[in-house]
Amino acid sequence: MLQRPRRNRSSAGVRGLVRDTQLSAANLVLPLFVQEGDGETAIRSMPGHARLGIPRLVDKAGEAFGLGVPAVALFPALVDDLKDPRGSESTNPDGLLQRSVRALKQALPELIVITDVALDPYSSDGHDGVLIDDRIDNDVTLPILAAMAVAQAEAGADVVAPSDMMDGRVGAIRSALDEAGFSNVLVCSYCCKYASGFYGPFREALDSAPRAGDKKTYQMDPANVRECLREVELDEAEGADWLMVKPGLPYADVIRLVRESTALPVAAYHVSGEYAMLKAAAQNGWLDFDRCLLESLLCLRRAGADIVFSYGAIEAARLLRR
Ligand code: PBG
Repeated sequence: MLQRPRRNRSSAGVRGLVRDTQLSAANLVLPLFVQEGDGETAIRSMPGHARLGIPRLVDKAGEAFGLGVPAVALFPALVDDLKDPRGSESTNPDGLLQRSVRALKQALPELIVITDVALDPYSSDGHDGVLIDDRIDNDVTLPILAAMAVAQAEAGADVVAPSDMMDGRVGAIRSALDEAGFSNVLVCSYCCKYASGFYGPFREALDSAPRAGDKKTYQMDPANVRECLREVELDEAEGADWLMVKPGLPYADVIRLVRESTALPVAAYHVSGEYAMLKAAAQNGWLDFDRCLLESLLCLRRAGADIVFSYGAIEAARLLRR
């Protein structure tokens, strides 16, 4: 037979030579949850993850960095007393997140620290923007997000990542950073972030679920894909450095579209629910976690992501070493 596609699959060596896509620890970002104190609190729906006190956060980030994972993304779990409608704690220079960033940069200066810009961990309403008369007010939220990003940069964040989906926030954040002298801080825009059920475990981890309503007036409708072209164009024009698609696997077509519509690096977020599904099935003996984790992350790379955020980054980095 003239055509035998199987010849290119005939040995590990041949498969390695002809492989299109590589997955390496260097592509990964590990999201971590931080809380007050020295201890940690397990997250029921995310086996293997816990809300970490700062000392443990530093250890965990060090473990990841030692395995070749260059970056972490931080999410603070605040006590209810510190939450208010405008998320004022978010700009406190001595707030939990800011202290975490400083501790990480001091212990691991080469580690890339990515911070989340959105109101939800700080908001008594659990929304990403300010709630006024039952609506999320876009333009009242923008200066708060900009101030939050500056506070994070002052603490030493390398990359600020607006995940709030307000219109115009990338531009507002970029100019505030530049005015404050942080023109070197990158902006990773959650460019195409969908109103997804797959964020469930994350909201449990931070106790940050909306107290009323949902996020459908700002996060994208899972049915839509053309709308991504608008979001890409706007975020590019507003000065984003990276464009993210979120969630990951169910949105592989979106990742591909974004990849083909921009010259900017593209990130994909393999979100909490995607991680939880793999863990739950593996705990039941229904699938092999290690294999399915690596396959999931590889597929996100194949879809077009340069950067992959994954709760399994440490496990993946260990497996990739073998
Ligand atoms: C909130 C934020 C969310 C995630 C990252 N930043 C949740 C949400 O929008 O409700 C989700 C991450 C995950 O599920 O892993 N600004």
